[in-house]
Parts: sequence; C-alpha cells; structure tokens
Amino acid sequence: MTGLLEPRAIGMALERVDGPAKVTGTAPYAFEHPVTDPTYLHPVLAGIARGRITAIDTSAAEALDGVLAVITHQNAPRLAAGEDAELTVLQSDEVAFRGQFVGAVVAETSETARHAASLVAVSYDERPHDVELRGDRDDLYAPDQVSAGFPTDTTQGDVDAALAAAAVTVAETYTTAWYNNNPMEPHTTVARWDGTGSLALYDSTQGVHSVRSAVAPVLGLEQDRIRVVAPHVGGGFGSKGTAHAHVVLAAMAARVVAGRPVKFALTRQQMFSLVGYRTPTIQRVRLAADGDGRLSAISMDVVEQTSRIKEFAEQTAVPTRMMYAAQNRRTTHRLAALDVPVPSWMRAPGECPGMFGPEVAMDELAIACGLDPIEFRIRNEPEVDPESGRPFSSRNLVTCLREGGRRFGWSDRDPTPGARRDGGWLVGTGVASSTYPTYRMPGSGATIRFGLGGRYRVEIGAADLGTGTWTALTQIAADALDVGVEEIELRIGDTALPRASVAGGSSGITSWGSAIVAAAQVFRDKFGNDPAEGDQADSTTPENPDADRFAMHAFGAQFAEVRVHEDTGEVRVPRLLGVFAVGRIINPRTARSQLVGGMTMGLSMALHEQSVLDERFGHVVNHDFAEYHIATNADVGTIEAHWIDEHDPYVNPMGSKGIGEIGIVGTAAAVVNAAHHATGIRVRDLPLTLDKLLH
Ligand code: MOS
Repeated sequence: MTGLLEPRAIGMALERVDGPAKVTGTAPYAFEHPVTDPTYLHPVLAGIARGRITAIDTSAAEALDGVLAVITHQNAPRLAAGEDAELTVLQSDEVAFRGQFVGAVVAETSETARHAASLVAVSYDERPHDVELRGDRDDLYAPDQVSAGFPTDTTQGDVDAALAAAAVTVAETYTTAWYNNNPMEPHTTVARWDGTGSLALYDSTQGVHSVRSAVAPVLGLEQDRIRVVAPHVGGGFGSKGTAHAHVVLAAMAARVVAGRPVKFALTRQQMFSLVGYRTPTIQRVRLAADGDGRLSAISMDVVEQTSRIKEFAEQTAVPTRMMYAAQNRRTTHRLAALDVPVPSWMRAPGECPGMFGPEVAMDELAIACGLDPIEFRIRNEPEVDPESGRPFSSRNLVTCLREGGRRFGWSDRDPTPGARRDGGWLVGTGVASSTYPTYRMPGSGATIRFGLGGRYRVEIGAADLGTGTWTALTQIAADALDVGVEEIELRIGDTALPRASVAGGSSGITSWGSAIVAAAQVFRDKFGNDPAEGDQADSTTPENPDADRFAMHAFGAQFAEVRVHEDTGEVRVPRLLGVFAVGRIINPRTARSQLVGGMTMGLSMALHEQSVLDERFGHVVNHDFAEYHIATNADVGTIEAHWIDEHDPYVNPMGSKGIGEIGIVGTAAAVVNAAHHATGIRVRDLPLTLDKLLH
C-alpha cells in the first residue's frame, strides 16, 4: 500500500495554469513554433485501395514556381527499418489502402504545395480490393493477443450448457460503427534538421518520447539525435498516441530540402485515412440468468477489422471479463485483415465499443427477468474480479448506480416502454455502466530543481492534450513538496526533459504523478525543507507494489433521457447524468471537463458519428465536418458529471484513477436503452439514427 499524499493542492479547482497563454494566443501549437525560412508540405494520396503504382508524372508539379521538391517512391531517401509498414513511407510502389501517402510536394507556400500536389499524375495497376467487414467471413483469424497485451480469448465453465439450462437468455448481435478521431488541432509536424544531422520535430502528439522512439529506428537515428517538442496539443483522443506516417514524411522531406524546415499539417480530409480510427465491431453477446436474475453465463464474441499492412487488435471484449459475476464465461476476438487504413486508438479503445453490446444486452435481460436494470446490475455485482479472482482495489459501481438513480430521479420511472408522452414525443430513460482500467505505465522520470526566486522547477516530458496535465501535475508537485502551487514551475512536452510515458490509457496522471511524488521524496530526503539554489533530485515511476494483488478499475453509471418523435423518429437527448467512482479527484474543474467531454463524445457516438465506407472505392466518403457529424451545442442538452468520494490507497500516491476515457464508456448504451424505453424499439446497431426508430 502506498502512503497517500496529504491533499492540499490536490482537490482544488485551480484554474488552468496554461489558460492565460492559450487565451492570449501565445501557447505554441505544433504549426506555430517559429522556424526560420519554412517550407510547406502537401502530400499526394493513393487514389486506389489496392494495387501498384505504374508511373508517376511529376513534371507539371515541378514546373510550378515555388516548388522545391516532389518526392515519390522513385526518388525518396531510403529509410532504415521497415518493420512498421505504416511508418515506412514512399519505399515501394505498393498501395495498401486508399488515402495512403504516395508522394509529397514541398514548396515555398502551403498554397503552392497544395496546388502542385494536385498536378501529380499517378497511374496504377489496380487490383481488386476487399474492405468489407462481415461476421461470416471465412478468413477471420485470432490475433496472438489483443491491444494492451491481453489474451485474445478467455473461457471458464461451459457457456453453451449454461445457456441451454437457463431460465432467461439474451443472444443478440450488436454493432458499432467505424469512427474517426477528430481532434480540433489537426496532426501536424514541423521538421528541421541541423547541420550536424540532428532532427527537431515540433509535433502534435500525446507523447514526445513515444514519437522519438517510434521514428528513430525508421530514420536510422540514435534517439539522442532527435528532439520532439509538444508543450500544447489541441486534442488527440488516441490518434496522437502513436506516431503516424506523416511524422516520418515530414522528417524525410526536410532532409530532401536540406537545411530548411518543413511544416506539414494534415487537412481534415487527410486525417480520415492517416491517423488511425476506431474499428467497426460486430459483437455477439449471450447472457443467461436464473429465475432470480442472477447471471449464469456471460459470453462476448467480437469481430473487428485491421489493415493488411499492420495489425491492430482492439481489446473490445476485455471489459466483459471483469464487469459482472457469472460462473460460465467466454470472450473471443477475431479479425479481418482488409485493404483499409490502419485502425488504432480512439478514446477508450476496447471499453468504449466493448461496453455497448453487453450493456444493451444487460438492459434486455433485465426486462426479460422483470427486473429494474439498476437492481439487475446490483444483483450481479462480483465479489472479486471474476476471471483473475483478485479483489478490486476499490469498486464502487453499486454506489454510482444508486447515487445516479437518486440524482436522476429513477424511482419515479414507469418501466413500461412507450408509457410516457409529451406532445408528439415519446420519452424514455435508460442506464448503463461505465468502467475503465487504472493503468500505470513504467519508466517515466521526473527532475526537481530548486531555483532562483525560491521556486521548484519540476521537469517531466509529459503531454497536455487539453486535458489539464499542466494544472494537475502542478498540484501534485505542490503537495509532494508540501509547498504552494505558486512555488511550482512545471515543464512538460519536450524530449529534452526526463522521459515520460504516453498520454494514453488514462494513465498519465498515475504514471507521471507517481514519478513526481517519488522525485519529491528524494529531494526532501536529500535537502530537507530549506534547500539551496541548484539543489536537484530525480526519480522514476516506481512499480506499484500492489499491482499483482488487486484488480484496479474505475467505475461509473450513466443515465440518459431520450425523446423520440412519434411521427419522424427524430431523437433528442435533453439530459445525460453520470456518477463516477474514479478515486480522488486532483482538480474538480479539469476533471468535470474530462467527464463531460467524454459523455458528450459518447452522445455523439450514439446519435451521429459514423464513418461511411464506400466499398466500391474503399474509402470513407463523409470525410469532412460537413458530413461526418459530431455533436454540437445544439445537440447537447444538460450533461451532469458527478463523482463519489472514493478512497483507494492502492492505485498510486495521489489515490487517483484515470478519468480521460471513462466518460465515453457506456453513454451510447444508456442512450439506446432509453430509446427502447421511450419507444419499445430495440436498436442494436449504432448510430441510433431516426430510420431505425420508424416502424
Ligand atoms: Mo487514449 S485512446 O488511450 O489516447
């Protein structure tokens, strides 16, 4: 058990320490870092989904005034390592998906680069492509493991026998759509080589050190030859959690125009094929219960897609392994490798899509058992993590369900579908559970130095995607050193600072905060409370001594009110309410923003978002904000995020759990369950569009 910090700064609703710089426009985002004599890159993307380039005519592009270079696989510098086929840009004539890089123009202005790129004529030997995800494909395969290192399949007992013997069962297939990450700031890299062969990258990333370690081998550089800088990032949602091909392309282009920096910001449309996305999923969920509404079997079989050139296996069935008690259990993941862009992380990969089917199925089974869906979940609360047998470090799902029900006004609910009307609107309410694991990544370091002016400079290469890292780490450092927040001078977002793990898996505050607390302890042990200028100490994230003893997860309960127009099928969600058990809250202001943001994105997933694949061409046709609809203010009613006072001494010295992702988990199921309550129509395929609600 970790000694918990005495919270003084922790828990304060401190305003964002980076706020003034942001609102005055002085916080540099990747594109804005001043570089001397910049050039601009615009890429050429593959116009086919599969095949070979037979010829590229660059002459018209090269003839334009201001064009400095046109790079294709025919003249591109050779890259050093070819293991990551996503990152090895312009190394062959093969096309693996529509929208892949097949060329790049570097010019004096971005307008010239863009125009010139449109003049590059690429001829192809096109081959038939296959982009169709179906659950009955005969080439589905089991990956060796799924994302974050989880086993592909798990099984306990005999699910089929339990289903056959059960009083009540649900066996249905649910689907989630293809979703694309759309952070406000596009993926951007500014690349600059110096005369000694060192590379500087101003990159919009969730992890400066992760970018460096991904691109160094591809470029054939030692890591210390690369510096990555990202003090401010305009959102990522996972799409900036791993380096994508544009980083390598920018670095390559800057080498070609020797000595001049290259600025490369992807367009919104280009982001739909080049920065990862959430795989569509097909989820076969089977649940069995006895006459008292106790689950005897839980089964989840997931089919999803990956790209032909690089495997990404989303861990979609993993949350099913720990949510509810049942003797007989089964989870499987199968992949189709298609001629599609490379899928990757999108906010709560695994948990977000993976809690949709099961949480709708739980609603269906509760109704079949004649039980209230809150009571049904409470009845199936496990004593320990059902598959590992480990106790939970803390598990307060039941408190969240009860507290949420109380705040939402659940006790007045008539369970009969279609019972409530308001004018032409059918009104319903629904609930679903949320969960997200509490991860700690190894290997972050922090340095603390006592400096001029009596302030402590705290350095760690962490990232702030807009999530509040600047503020939360300042608070943690203040408590760890037992000083006021004004005495902390934080530095993050630079590989010149101590190594930090990626801002992913909602692990940032746990991983970086633990490193800062450890460094503060070393500092105080060495120098006491009256240090001299220049005194310095450092440490790394300690291993959690309790990691193997406990299952560590955050939980939540989400409630939705849905109104469906009886003539048009129009759907409105006037009210969402979530109650979360996420450990100690570092900063209520930024925490609420994360939870409300996650729920908003969950609403968007439930009602609007869907990347529509044109199977004839193999690309997402609605690849812009005109047609890929993300919830706007007009779509969002009241969203309330609350939390319970949770004390967990096992997760980390702050007692906090990650909150960046749990807010999006369960929202879509709550909305779909509420729509069923409103109308009696059970929708099992996202998004919940009006055509699905018309008889
Ligand atoms: Mo988050 S999708 O783990 O960056």
